[in-house]
This record gives sequence, C-alpha cells and structure tokens, in this order.
Amino acid sequence: MTQLSDRVGETRRSDAAARDDVKAPQRTVAPREKVAAGELVDIAMTVNGTDVTVSVPARMHLADVLREHLGLTGTHLGCEHGVCGMCTVLVDGDAARACLLFAVQCEGAEIVTVEGLGAPDDQHPLQQAFSAHHGLQCGFCTPGMLMSSYDLLANGPQGTKVDPADLPEEMSGVICRCTGYRGILDAVADVAAEHPEGLPGPRNCAARTLVGRGGGHSTATPGEEAAASAVAGPALPQEVRMPGGAPSATVEVTSALSAPVEKVWAVLDDFDQLARCLPGAELVEVLADDRYRGRAKIALGPVKLSFEGLAQVIERDPADHRMRVLAQGADTGGSATQADIRLRAEAAPGGGTVLKADAALFLSGRIAQFGRALAGDVSRRLFEQFGEAVDQTATTGTAPDVSAGPSPVKIAMGAALDAIKRGAARARVRIQEAIRTRRAR
Ligand code: FES
Ligand code: FES
Repeated sequence: MTQLSDRVGETRRSDAAARDDVKAPQRTVAPREKVAAGELVDIAMTVNGTDVTVSVPARMHLADVLREHLGLTGTHLGCEHGVCGMCTVLVDGDAARACLLFAVQCEGAEIVTVEGLGAPDDQHPLQQAFSAHHGLQCGFCTPGMLMSSYDLLANGPQGTKVDPADLPEEMSGVICRCTGYRGILDAVADVAAEHPEGLPGPRNCAARTLVGRGGGHSTATPGEEAAASAVAGPALPQEVRMPGGAPSATVEVTSALSAPVEKVWAVLDDFDQLARCLPGAELVEVLADDRYRGRAKIALGPVKLSFEGLAQVIERDPADHRMRVLAQGADTGGSATQADIRLRAEAAPGGGTVLKADAALFLSGRIAQFGRALAGDVSRRLFEQFGEAVDQTATTGTAPDVSAGPSPVKIAMGAALDAIKRGAARARVRIQEAIRTRRAR
C-alpha cells in the first residue's frame, strides 16, 4: 500500500519569490494499491464543473491528462519542470503547476482550466482585459497568465486590492517568451481596479446535464455515476450526458430529397433504418427508453477511429416530423465525442422533402485535434451522405450499404473545398473593407 498525502499546489501566487514561503494547499488522497509502471489507474475528478473519470498510467501528470485524455489543450506545456508557469491551472481553487502534479494526486479534486474561465461568447473579465490591452502576442503563455492572475486576484493576500506596483513581481512566475509584459500587467491592474469587491468567478464551469430518464438529475448510484460520467476510455455509459459549455463545433446541413416527407419520416422514425443510413454506423442493441447501443467508425487519412456508444431519442414529434437525438461515444484511443442532433423533415414544393440536420458536437482526446473547422467539415459530409442514404431508403425501401463509413478521400476533398470557400469568403470581405476604407478617405 502506498500513502499519497502530497502538496498538490506548488504555487498559489505565481511569483518566483513566493516559492520559498508558499502556503500550498494540502490534500489527503485515499491510499491506493501499489500499481505497476504500465498499469492504468482510474481517477475521478471534477474538471470545469464536469465529473470525469479517466483511466491513465499512475506516472502521468495532470497536464497530459487534461490535454490528451480530456482534449483540454488550453493548458500549455513549456518546460515541464515547474519553471515557466505555462501549465498553471486551479486545483481546489488554488493555482498549481499541472506539470508537477501526478493526476492520481487529484483524485476527488476540482480542477479549473483556462477553458473553464470563460467561453468565446462569455469571456471572463480577465480574458476581456487581456484582449483590450493586447496582453498577448503569440498567446503561448496566455492560459498560464490568465490562471495565475485569476489566482492572484481571487486568492492573493490583497485580492483585487493588490498594489499595481507589486504586479511585476506577483506575476513573475509565468514567463512570456514574447516579453509582452506591459499589456499583461495593465490588463490585470485594470481588472483589479474594476472589481474592488472581489473577482468574478469562472464563467464556463457547469455540471453535465443528465437527460432522458433522469429528468435532468442523476439517479445513478455513485458507482454508476462514475461509470456514466467517463469521457475517456472505452467504458460504455448507461445514460447519455451532454457537457456544459460551448460545443467544439456546430453544423447545419440542409438536403433536398426526392422522396415525399411521409416516407422520409418513416425512415427517420425507425431507428434501425435510420442507423443503416448513417455512414459507418452499426446498431448493436435496442435498449429501453428509446436508447440504442451502437458502433461507428470514421477514417480521415491515416487517423482511424472506432467508437462504441449510446444514442437516445429524447424528442420525437411525428406531426411535425422532427426528432432530437443525443449521442455519446468513446474509442479505445482516448477520443470521446458527444452530439446533440436535431433532424426535421419538411415537405418541399413538387412533392420532395427538405431534410434539415443541426448538430452541436463536443469532442475530446485525439479527435479534438481535428480542430473546429475540420470537425465541422467532416460532420457536414457525414450528414450529406446520411441525407442521400435516407432518400434512397425512402424511395426504394432498401438502405444503401454505408457500413464501410464515409470515403476518406471524399471527406478530405469536401473539407478542402470548404476550406477554399471559407478562404475566398474571407478574402472577399477583406477586399470589400479595403475598398470601403479607400473610398472613405
Ligand atoms: S510546463 Fe509546467 S511550469 Fe513549465
Ligand atoms: S505572448 Fe508569446 S509567450 Fe507570451
């Protein structure tokens, strides 16, 4: 048996001078059985308000778990020696260097990363101030600067009443390679002055919402809860859960189908037929409460992912031909995806159907490296192929064979085409702006 009772926060304030007298938070972690070097350990913690359980080697540090297993790549790694401060996150409310913490030390801890500080459309005052004061150049140090300054203003001895003259020393624990310190310090001083009563808390931390049978609240036992909340690793959830915060990507696809709306709805309303129309998907088991267990595979160039997961129809309106499906899956490589999908079939003039698919996608792990634009492009291609398959099934009564999944070449070409279109649209806007500016002179 080993006893882990370690300091989990190396720096509460980020200044190098404070390291000597730092009052690091103390956490006592329940004893664990000794594990072999390559053996995986289950660790349950709360990250940005969401309960997660990861299965990782005991020697893996928190920053790697956040980045590689949870897809939270906002936590940067510079030195991995506790020197540069890039990896600063909050552990149980205090700043800590995630490269100096083993993830197993964080069992039961509440972690907040820069993603939890604010959302793109609801930024924390610190994020707004960094932008207003040009407090970043390449941006590599920005997550560390933000989390460190958050800790300083929220937990420092003077809080937001910190003397601006002390900021250079207080903030010296995070190193900016671009040396853009002036804007950073101005931003922190501004936020401190604007919030004399205390710094507002993180804005993008939310518990997952349990949907379906739970009616919005978890009914699972703690053990089931842990299994259901896993977002990394291949463990299959019992309920579909959606994370809080902004999705990784959103897509809207409208397809014109030749089949009449009633026949299209008949395909959508039959989950077995619907699954046959999803490229690469396979229905494995029909469960109670409109829940379905299945597999899906996707290949993009050399990246091949195979998901096992759960889908749940949470709204089905035959009169309006609309339905809403939540899906959640994970692959053995640590990728996880969740999707909130709305399908609607509308009668089109001439007897055909307009099929609309809207999806909000939440990606983590290796799949998150696709990036927002590419994930959106790939999903768009999938829904386009889905529309074609639904049309064929509704027209002929037989689903085409899409079990092999979407063609990687077709996806890549489609994605490239979309990227070219986006680039051309951006160039058009820039040219129009330049013309407007010239005319205004
Ligand atoms: S990466 Fe953690 S302190 Fe440098
Ligand atoms: S802005 Fe580039 S490292 Fe700080």
